[in-house]
Amino acid sequence: MRLSVIGCGYVGLVTGACLAAAGHEVTCTDIDTERIRRLQAGEVPIYEEHLEEILKSAREAGRISYTADAGEAIRAGDAIFICVGTPPKESGEADLSAIDQVARQIAEQARSPKLVIEKSTVPARTGLELQRALAAYSSGGKSTFRVASNPEFLREGTAVGDFFHPDRIVVGVEDESAAADLREIYRPILERKFHCPVHKGTCPTSHDAAFLVTTINSAELIKHASNSFLALKISYANVIADLCERIGADVKEVTHAMGLDPRIGGQFLSAGLGFGGFCFPKDVQAFIHLAASVGVDFDLLKATERVNKQRIDRFLEKVRKALWVVRGKHVAVLGLAFKANTDDIRFAPALEVVKRLLEEGAIVHATDPEAISKAKTLFPRVTYHEDPYEALRGADAALVCTEWEIFRNLDWKRAKPLMARGLVVDGRNLYSPKHMRELGFEYYSFGRA
Ligand code: UDX
Repeated sequence: MRLSVIGCGYVGLVTGACLAAAGHEVTCTDIDTERIRRLQAGEVPIYEEHLEEILKSAREAGRISYTADAGEAIRAGDAIFICVGTPPKESGEADLSAIDQVARQIAEQARSPKLVIEKSTVPARTGLELQRALAAYSSGGKSTFRVASNPEFLREGTAVGDFFHPDRIVVGVEDESAAADLREIYRPILERKFHCPVHKGTCPTSHDAAFLVTTINSAELIKHASNSFLALKISYANVIADLCERIGADVKEVTHAMGLDPRIGGQFLSAGLGFGGFCFPKDVQAFIHLAASVGVDFDLLKATERVNKQRIDRFLEKVRKALWVVRGKHVAVLGLAFKANTDDIRFAPALEVVKRLLEEGAIVHATDPEAISKAKTLFPRVTYHEDPYEALRGADAALVCTEWEIFRNLDWKRAKPLMARGLVVDGRNLYSPKHMRELGFEYYSFGRA
């Protein structure tokens, strides 16, 4: 099929690349002309595993092209994926102005009927508004567009794998024809008729996806409800960690046992500094706002948010208690990205930790395998090190903020003599307290004695 993708950020680029790799003809556009120029030159502006190789082969097969002219992209596709940003406003409500602008462009630039698919994360009822906007901006006030919702469930770092091996593909539609078109778009993935860059053509059958056809409102709600539930799960584990500390239990033992119950599941129960990134914090806020706008008080999610914010305070309390005086102390921050395997620092708990440490007069040295260049512009006063052992040299304390494997496997025996003081405050529960004590460290983590 001929597809267009509006917005070449994480979601748009991965969507465009994967659909091209699955055999469709894809035209991508973005208002960022520099980004389009780089893509046209064969550069990949974001790091995502396997993205470069699939973009390269799609480009060589002539299945993907880029244009800064939105009209050209709109006219090129029979179906148009909207993948623009929906950032939070001051109030937490999702800012939908980019979607509105795209609706206007589609209405003005299209010369034939189109299937318009929202992939950006939007509050429920946006599809209905989009349908109205497309009609309002069309000449004569009559729309020839069908609208559908097709939320993404892509995790940063494994987005390409997630796209090719989804648990479920959700399509919210108003009529059967839109569902049929979307099924056709996803047919190569449902029937596994593509060369998988992750498994090199030998994907396990356990990865078969469910194709769910729902109403547009339900599809939009599924996305917010899923992300908010995962965030709630993390906050739940964090409160259990607080309880474990007071009572004298081990949160890892507790959550491990909980997770063995299939009704609960073991994922997203890791206690620590809490969730960050550009999805969970904003999705939780937008969902609370949506609920309030229709008279539903989502106290559960307000508590989720509150608990998550408190993690930073709890972490810094541990740091202050251990260091006694923070001012003038050399602290090594291990991890800046909001989670492992990404260079993304948006709403990263580590950044708040660094900000507060600087405010309290600490001398901050930081390391991260991917995120240093992004953090540099935010915190020029921090000294950055590619090598974690260099960040630890002379440190009064090591603070673990991101769950990178390289930190999990750090040789603390080697690090100990480099540090001025053997103190580790672990915001991601990466190490065994017993082992760290045996190595002679004063070691603090979340929810463990
Ligand atoms: C998330 C959703 O998982 C994805 O489906 C959606 O489409 C986009 O948002 P992402 O933002 O890439 O993906 O991050 P994710 O891997 O879900 O982690 C979110 C945050 O939670 C990270 O900061 C991570 O460190 C934290 N986390 C995760 C915990 O604190 N504890 C856990 O047990 C799991």
